Amino acid sequence: MYVCLCKGITDKHIRDAVDAGAGSFREVRRQLELASQCGKCGSLARNVYDSYLANF
Ligand code: FES
Repeated sequence: MYVCLCKGITDKHIRDAVDAGAGSFREVRRQLELASQCGKCGSLARNVYDSYLANF
């Protein structure tokens, strides 16, 4: 599912960034340039990130 329409970032991109070693939500945002345009995706992206970590 698309999380960030401005940048075309999906929930899988976020999970892949975590799997590749991004150690914080801030790092995921930096790597993917997530929420860097309109910013509307920030809270949904955070939820995707938190949900993925909760399943470790
Ligand atoms: Fe992510 Fe606009 S939807 S920056």
